[in-house]
Amino acid sequence: MTEQSAPTTRPQSVADLDTAELGGENSILARQRRDHDELDRMMNAYEQAATDGPERDELWRSIVQLVFSHAFAEETVLWPLLRRVSDDGEALTAVVEEEHQAVNELVAKVEEADPADPRRAEWIAEAFALIRQDIRDEEDELLPLLRAALDDRRLRQVGASWDAVRRGAPTRPHPGIPRRPPGNAVLGVPLSGYDRLRDLGARRPGVLAGAALSVTGAALLAARARRSGR
Ligand SMILES: [Fe+2]
Ligand SMILES: [Fe+2]
Repeated sequence: MTEQSAPTTRPQSVADLDTAELGGENSILARQRRDHDELDRMMNAYEQAATDGPERDELWRSIVQLVFSHAFAEETVLWPLLRRVSDDGEALTAVVEEEHQAVNELVAKVEEADPADPRRAEWIAEAFALIRQDIRDEEDELLPLLRAALDDRRLRQVGASWDAVRRGAPTRPHPGIPRRPPGNAVLGVPLSGYDRLRDLGARRPGVLAGAALSVTGAALLAARARRSGR
């Protein structure tokens, strides 16, 4: 494994690299770009949908699930690594963590608002603008530093770790939990079970009964984390 200090000159955006240059299709860079492209496609489709209705609701749900699971795995796996391998990591990851926090707050407002609230469209537009900015910052500034610091094999290992966390990550906004480890993992992982039950419950309401266990677990862990000063 080779982790070394990234060079000071700014590398090329990962948007301009082909799959081989990204380290293969399982590398973290290729996996990130696929999710970003999918988010972009869904946000465009949402904006182009003529009217509100079940199709648009389903698109919104898919965007929310992908945004938060993707970002949680970044906060847990990628940004701590970037802070280790690049002198610019601290400042750059602080910027994207702020973007993630703002998206969390906006989507939480959308989800809590009355469906007829006219401000929802404004908040959704703001959230989409922030997600697009986050994608540009990552592809143009942060991910190239990983490309510069890690060899292809390591990029694929990081890709596998990131994907494993993403598959068990929260799928809904949680603006109250920290954006950095260990707090995000301690509080976020238990919430993932609850989120996924709620996602299922949106289609099968009876499933929600079992969610109370996850909530209790999350509350206990939150109290423990607060007591230990995390
Ligand atoms: Fe990303
Ligand atoms: Fe992100």
